[in-house]
Amino acid sequence: MASHQKRSYSFAGFTALYIAVFLTLITGVFFSFLGTVSYLFLIPVALISFLSSFFIIQIRVEKFIYKKINKLNKEVSLLESASFGRDQITTDMDTLTKQVRRFTQHKKLEIEALKIRESYRKEFLGNVSHELKTPLFMVQGYVETLLNGALDDENVRDKYLERANKGIERLAYIVKDLDMISRLEVGGLTLDKEKVDIVELFNSAFELLEMKAAKKNISLVFDKDYPDPIYVNADVERIQQVLTNLLDNSIKYGKKAGTTEVSIEGLMKDKTIVRITDNGVGIEQSYLTRIFERFFRVDKTGSRKVGGSGLGLSIVKHIIDAHSEKIYVESQLGIGSEFSFTLENAE
Ligand SMILES: Nc1ncnc2c1ncn2[C@@H]1O[C@H](COP(=O)(O)OP(=O)(O)O)[C@@H](O)[C@H]1O
Ligand SMILES: [Mg+2]
Repeated sequence: MASHQKRSYSFAGFTALYIAVFLTLITGVFFSFLGTVSYLFLIPVALISFLSSFFIIQIRVEKFIYKKINKLNKEVSLLESASFGRDQITTDMDTLTKQVRRFTQHKKLEIEALKIRESYRKEFLGNVSHELKTPLFMVQGYVETLLNGALDDENVRDKYLERANKGIERLAYIVKDLDMISRLEVGGLTLDKEKVDIVELFNSAFELLEMKAAKKNISLVFDKDYPDPIYVNADVERIQQVLTNLLDNSIKYGKKAGTTEVSIEGLMKDKTIVRITDNGVGIEQSYLTRIFERFFRVDKTGSRKVGGSGLGLSIVKHIIDAHSEKIYVESQLGIGSEFSFTLENAE
C-alpha cells in the first residue's frame, strides 16, 4: 500500500470558512451595539477563527475516520490492519472508496476460490461414494444370492463367488488408489529426490508387469538397447508408481499381442524425456484433456471390462507436478497412445 495518502482539506476548509464568517458577523454586530468606531479588528477575528476551526476540524475528522475504519477493520477484518497505520489515514473520500473497493474485490476473489474448492470437494465425495457403491452392491447381491440357496447349486456357485471376488478386488484397488492420493496430498508431496537409473527402474517395472502383459500377449520393450545407466533426479518410489501406472494402462488398453515401447531420450542439456507408447485402443481427441482428472474413465459403462479406479493417471500427474516436470499425451483412436514426461538429469 502507498505510504503517502492523499488528504482532502476542502471539507475542513469550507466548514472553517462558514464558522469564520458566522463568528465575524456576530462579533461585528455585537461591537456595533457598543458603538465601536473601527471594524479593523474584525480581520484578525476572522483569521483566527478560520485557522483555529480549520485545524480543529481537520484533526477531528481524521481521528474520526481513523477510528471508524479501525472499528470496521476489527469487525470484518476487511482491511489488513498491518498495512493500515495511523499516518496512512486518508480524508479523501475518492481514495478511501477506492481502497475499500480494492479490498472487497480481493475478498470476492477469495470467496470465489473457496466456492470452487467447496464444489470440487462435494463432487469428489460424490464420485468416491459412487465408485464404491457399484462394486459394493455387486458383491452384496452375489453374496445374498449365494446365501439364499445358490450355494447349493454347483452350476452357479463358483461363478457367483468369482464375480463377488471381482467386486472385492475392485473395491480394494479403489481404496488403495484413494489412499495413495490422500497420502500424496496430506504429505504435502515432500519428495525424496535422489540419483536414480531410469533404465533400471523400467527393467524392474517390466518384471513386475510381465505376467499381466503375458496374459494379453503384449510385449514390453525398449525402442533400442540401453547398455548404460541413465541417471535422473527423482523420488524413486513415486517415479516407480508413475512407470507402473502408465505401463499398466498400456497393457489394459493395449490390443492383444500388441507392443508397449519405452524410449528414453535426452532433451536439451538438463532434461530427459521418457516415452511410453502402445498400439492399443487409443483415446478420442476430445477426452485427452480430461483423462488426468480423478475418476475419469473414457469408458464408464464398463463394457471394456478392465478394472480400474480412474485414479491412476491423476496420481501420475500429481507426482510429475510435484517434480515440477511436464507430462504429455498424444493418442489416436484405434491406433494407440503415447504418454511422455520429463525428468531432471542427474550429474
Ligand atoms: N494407454 C492408454 N490407452 C487408451 N486409453 C487410456 C490409456 N491410458 C489411460 N487411458 C484412458 O484414461 C482413463 C484414465 O486412466 P487411469 O486414470 O489410469 O484410470 P484407470 O486405468 O483406473 O481406468 C482410462 O480409463 C482409459 O479410458
Ligand atoms: Mg490406470
